[in-house]
Parts: sequence; C-alpha cells; structure tokens
Amino acid sequence: MPSAENSGIPAAELQRFTAYLRGCKRILALVGAGLSASSGLPTFRGAGGLWRSLDATALATPEAFERTPGLVWQFYSYRRHMALQAEPNKAHYALAELARKNEDFITLSQNVDGLSQRANHPSEQLHLLHGTLFDIKCTNFYCDYTRENEFTDPIVPALDIPKLDSGLNPSAVDKTGEEAAKSMREALSGTQTEIDISDANNQIPELDAKDLPQCPKCNDGLLRPGVVWFGEALPEKTMNTVDEWIAAGTIDLCLVIGTSARIWPAAGYIHEARSKGARIAVCNMDPKDTPGELHKGDWFFTGDAGVIVPEIFKSIIGEI
Ligand code: APR
Repeated sequence: MPSAENSGIPAAELQRFTAYLRGCKRILALVGAGLSASSGLPTFRGAGGLWRSLDATALATPEAFERTPGLVWQFYSYRRHMALQAEPNKAHYALAELARKNEDFITLSQNVDGLSQRANHPSEQLHLLHGTLFDIKCTNFYCDYTRENEFTDPIVPALDIPKLDSGLNPSAVDKTGEEAAKSMREALSGTQTEIDISDANNQIPELDAKDLPQCPKCNDGLLRPGVVWFGEALPEKTMNTVDEWIAAGTIDLCLVIGTSARIWPAAGYIHEARSKGARIAVCNMDPKDTPGELHKGDWFFTGDAGVIVPEIFKSIIGEI
C-alpha cells in the first residue's frame, strides 16, 4: 500500500484526513507526554515512568510533598533540568504553526515541560491543564505567592545534581529500558559529569526543609512547583476558558496526540469534543492506546508524534 514518505501513513488515509482538515473550522487538540518523547523526555506510563524505582505518579501528590518535600523537590528539580536540556520537536512546532493559521484551534496540554511555549505556540491558544514546572508557588494555604517563568536551574543550590567527582557511585546499568530516558542519559553523560539521579542505585543527599526553596512573601512556607498534583483541581481560570470555547459552537476535529488519555478530567475533553460533533484523530506510538471507541470516519495514526504531526498538517502549514 502506498504511504506518505517517512511517516508510514497510508496515502489514502492521509488524503482523507487532509481533505477533512482543510474544511475544519474549530479544532481542539489534547496532547500528553508522548508529544515530548522524541525531545528525549520520558512518558509517565512508559518504562521510563519510574524515578529511583518509584512510580513517578506517586511523587506527584500533596501527601508525598508533605511527607518527603526534599525527595519530591529532587524529582521536580530533575524534571526541570531535563526539560531545560530538551528542545521542542517538530510536533510542537507544527501545533504552534497550525494555531497561527487558525485562530479557532486550541491546544489543551497535559505537559508541564514548557516545550510548546518554547516552540512559540500562541499563548492564548495554549491551555496548560496541569500547570508548568516553571511556575513556583507557596504551599501555605493563606499565602498567594507565585512566581512565573522561573527558569533558574537549580532553583536552590541544594538541588544541584551531584557530579561524578563528588564521590557518589553512578550505576553502570540502565534499568529502565526506556529509549527516551536512555538517550537523554547518554546525551548527558557524553557532555557533562552529572550523576543520573533517576537511578536508585545512585545516592542522592537527604535534604532538610531549610535547604528547599522558601517563600519570600510569608517567610513561613516552602515553595513548590506550580504543577497540578493528583487529588488537586485543574486551574479554574483555564477550565473556564476552555469550557467557554467548547460551548461556543460545534467542534470539527479533536486531535489526541501522545497521551494515554487515562487521566481525568483532561481525558474528558475528548468526549466533550465528540459530543459537539468532532471527529477524532489519534496520534500515538501504541496502537492499543485508543481513547475509548473510535468511530467510522475517525483516524488512528500510529507512530512518533514528531514525525506524524508535521506530516498530517503539512497541507495547511507547509514544511516544518
Ligand atoms: N509519539 C506519540 N505517542 C507516544 C510517543 C511518541 N513518540 N511516545 C509515547 N507515546 C504515547 C504512549 O503510547 C502513551 O499512550 O504517549 C502516551 C503517554 O502516556 P502517559 O505516559 O500516560 O502520559 P500522559 O497521557 O501525558 O499522562 C497524563 O498523567 O501522570 C499524569 O499529570 C501527568 O500529565 C500527566 C497525565
């Protein structure tokens, strides 16, 4: 069967999608960790979702922060560091370009890595459902301190990633098996002497609360990353804006890119879009990761978002 160059998409499938996309007015994209996988950042439910043998999602709770703020900060400081080392890939740029071509296209991102912003996705068309690693806020319930676009890495000296010459033992064995995490580690080990602190075999210091970022406003609370943890509500203003957009008319297309679509309420937007008339187009490496049942007229593009997304938008945005 003929297929579009490099992407492996059957030509007839691409043609059917492209013809539909050209006529689309209102488009909603829900994106997840798979969007940034080819930038070298591990996903959550892939093999690289373990951090120091801990389920990454178990560290993403207010209870984990209360119990072990040092460990949770080490996890987030590591993610901030990795995200800053990574570069946006072609899928981030393609989504940003589609947004520039169509004012009625919005991206709902579950990612906190800042890569869509760095690909210049128009900010009013990008809704960060789970916050960002680069906003910081106070944990004290009575304090409203927040700091946006805080890119200092490490945010405090105690969170600096230990170096090889510090006497700690790096493991020689990669135990995660996750390609993205591995390539990032290799890139790091080739250029720097940092220890891979995502590997539980490598020691990390136990940090005191006094070593962690402190609130400069109330002088009484620890600062925390401005991400949405399990058990917390999504940002109200963001949800209201998205709800208003959804209510404003029928939706022609819902793109579901690089997400397992298992986390609610984010995954619920796919169903809302469907109920407003949208056809669904999924792009995922794993052909089993379907968000519910696909209907006749929907699409499933199997493969790397970094390759597929620029290809399926090409007739509108040109070459990325
Ligand atoms: N291209 C496209 N899809 C990919 C790629 C790739 N290169 N690599 C992996 N994927 C797919 C996986 O098959 C999987 O379906 O990306 C998806 C990633 O799923 P998750 O790891 O569950 O990430 P995500 O859907 O973003 O998780 C949602 O859960 O842990 C919380 O808050 C966290 O925002 C996150 C939310």
